[in-house]
Amino acid sequence: MDSSTPKKAGHPFKTGRKIKRIAICTGGGDAPGLNAVIRAATKTALYFGWEVIGLYQGFDGLIFPKMSQKLEPRDIRGILNKGGTILGTTNRGNPFEYPVKRGGKTEIKDISRTVVRNFRKMGLDALIVIGGDGTLRIAEKLGEMGIPMVGVPKTIDNDLNGTDVTFGYDTAVSTATEALDKLHSTAASHRRCMVVEVMGRYAGWIALNSGVSGGADVILIPEIPFTVEEVCKKVRERDRIKRYFTIIVAAEGAKPAGGGMITKGGASGGRQEVLLGGIAEWLAKEIQRTCGKESRSLTLGHLQRGGHPTTFDRLLATRLGAAAARLVYLGHFGRMVGLKTPRIASTPINEAVQCMKAVPVDHDTIISARSMGISFGDGVKAPHPQF
Ligand code: F6P
Repeated sequence: MDSSTPKKAGHPFKTGRKIKRIAICTGGGDAPGLNAVIRAATKTALYFGWEVIGLYQGFDGLIFPKMSQKLEPRDIRGILNKGGTILGTTNRGNPFEYPVKRGGKTEIKDISRTVVRNFRKMGLDALIVIGGDGTLRIAEKLGEMGIPMVGVPKTIDNDLNGTDVTFGYDTAVSTATEALDKLHSTAASHRRCMVVEVMGRYAGWIALNSGVSGGADVILIPEIPFTVEEVCKKVRERDRIKRYFTIIVAAEGAKPAGGGMITKGGASGGRQEVLLGGIAEWLAKEIQRTCGKESRSLTLGHLQRGGHPTTFDRLLATRLGAAAARLVYLGHFGRMVGLKTPRIASTPINEAVQCMKAVPVDHDTIISARSMGISFGDGVKAPHPQF
């Protein structure tokens, strides 16, 4: 935060704004490290002498004030290393497009004014929102309607700007890498091709980093369209050198050249995004059909969102949570904390969510992977070495 730790001139700190009570919520898909953020933000807020209200199920806690609870030190004890979120979360709770059930039917309504009204009624001075691009966009709009808010970037997909990396991502990559380690022995024993589908939405970060760390032979990411023929070329090449198995990591958003991403369902019932998935199963069948290699598929799915956060994620989440409370203290609203190595800095939320952070196709990890013979299914060779 641009070294913005409040200066301690005796306690309490000097602040331009009198904060007494803040609220915290978590929105969108869960990610390992959410509890560490809640804990750090709450502890810091309590240290500043504020009251902290935990809102349940994202913004629902502001739609139905009963879905909220004062957070005391005992409520945040022992949660640092726990997956999930003690506050609960949802990716269907957008107050600007909220699904309201009426007479057996679901209607989409804008109830954002109720949220602002309740925020005031609950005597809140500021809101810390922990979420991905969708949740932070909502928070920003609520900010424009008068709710002083600060954002904390969260997603296993690592597709947010304004931070070098999002918490949750390291844990997801570790889970995927461990799966790849385990799949090697069964793939080798059966001389099979294993296609592993990982999450990441429209960005290939999880696939790229777990693929390289887990020794994959082919990595397919949304940023580099592939052809089945090129994938099969790698499978045959490995057979020729008597490595009779092939490990393929496919991002859920990977797409064949000229084709589209495979989806499981559209956005509906208040859900903003289409649900991706199915590429691994499709590709395993295509490989078997095209080059006759016995193939199997595995979709890691929500396993990547579960479990304890890694040390990296716990630390990052803790730093971000505490920094978010400091940002509130300083009255720097409409901003999001983020890692700008080696420090925690802040960015206007609208800048951070303007566009998603895709993997640059000239990323050094891709160049290194190509030069080690890893295929991206596009037939491109490693470029001439340069720095
Ligand atoms: O954004 C996080 C994420 O896990 C994506 O990687 C994935 O596409 C999506 O959420 C899955 O959403 P849901 O939890 O609704 O199945």
